[in-house]
Amino acid sequence: LTTDHVRIVEVGPRDGLQNEKKSISLETKLELIRRLANTGVTTIEAGSFVPAKWVPQMASTSEILQHLLRTPPPSQNQIAYNYLVPNIKGLENLVTILESEGATAGSKDDAKASTTTEISLFAAATESFSKANTNCTIAESIERVRPIVALAKEKDIRVRGYVSVALGCPYEGPDVSPGKVAEITATLLEMGADEVSVADTTGMGTAPRTLELLHALSAAGIANSDLALHFHDTYGQALVNTIVGLEHGIRIFDSSVGGLGGCPYSKGATGNVSTEDLVHTLHGLGMHTGIDLEEMSRIGAWISEQLGRANDSRAGKATLAR
Ligand code: HMG
Ligand code: MG
Repeated sequence: LTTDHVRIVEVGPRDGLQNEKKSISLETKLELIRRLANTGVTTIEAGSFVPAKWVPQMASTSEILQHLLRTPPPSQNQIAYNYLVPNIKGLENLVTILESEGATAGSKDDAKASTTTEISLFAAATESFSKANTNCTIAESIERVRPIVALAKEKDIRVRGYVSVALGCPYEGPDVSPGKVAEITATLLEMGADEVSVADTTGMGTAPRTLELLHALSAAGIANSDLALHFHDTYGQALVNTIVGLEHGIRIFDSSVGGLGGCPYSKGATGNVSTEDLVHTLHGLGMHTGIDLEEMSRIGAWISEQLGRANDSRAGKATLAR
């Protein structure tokens, strides 16, 4: 991959849908994932292994994993399907399904040739958010990570870490310590995470504070190639902050089709930056994503209609109107 290639992690089926109040059918979720897999995107967050009482919308994740393991990917692409796990129990549930399907996490030379299964685990940069999102302290959440990474490594499952509220917390405000974010990020990487996505959960990040955070991450010895940025667009700053990240050398960004989403434990937070807007911006800068913007725009319009919500992608709507 050249340095002008950006890998986009499509989080719509997980981060985008987890906060929807109305139950979304399994068929609609599978159709969304099937369509996304046809756009050229190479990583799709497909669900999360969390208790239904915490996030009811993700209750069908077992069926999604099972279906994706049985279904060859629709294109020649190498596609990684990623699942969020909050604790060891979540990973054990995932591994049980993987093994009962006779599958392994990595790709093999068979019908499943181009599909891999990955996980994401998460920690937060403030104590209040850690308590609200995972019912434990930051230190306890780090300890929860250890056995998850160990089991994932044993099963050859790639691990992504998240650090939430890196640029603002719904309970503690915008002044989250960049040093704390860097410390948690470094710990997750030392424990064996393959990459860490630093998340602006609330969308409170501004360009100068994003730059300050990136400097703190570099100063802690963290390589840009180990980092992703995850922007929610609550204040409309996601693309501005994306440019700051790009200029600093980050080449992995998370987004959701149609700008779907919100966070159940971050009141008022809107969706992730929309994939269509992100792709439009990156292509406009002469960078490559491998993603078909028109197809992505059609999916954004389709899923917004399915959910009865407004399409939150400006570039998506404009692309379809051309
Ligand atoms: P807890 O209630 O403290 O857990 O929640 P517990 O260990 O006491 O277990 C309670 C019950 O859940 C027990 O069942 C367990 O067996 C069961 P009971 O005895 O009551 O019948 N249980 C499970 N069931 C299914 N799957 C599991 C599981 N674990 C326990 N994995 C816990 C602790 C971590 C589970 C909870 O706080 C939780 O699920 N938190 C996750 C919330 C969440 O999903 N938030 C949204 C995702 S993060 C996000 O959106 C941020 C991100 O996008 C980045 C950003 O933007 O910031 C990634
Ligand atoms: Mg998020």
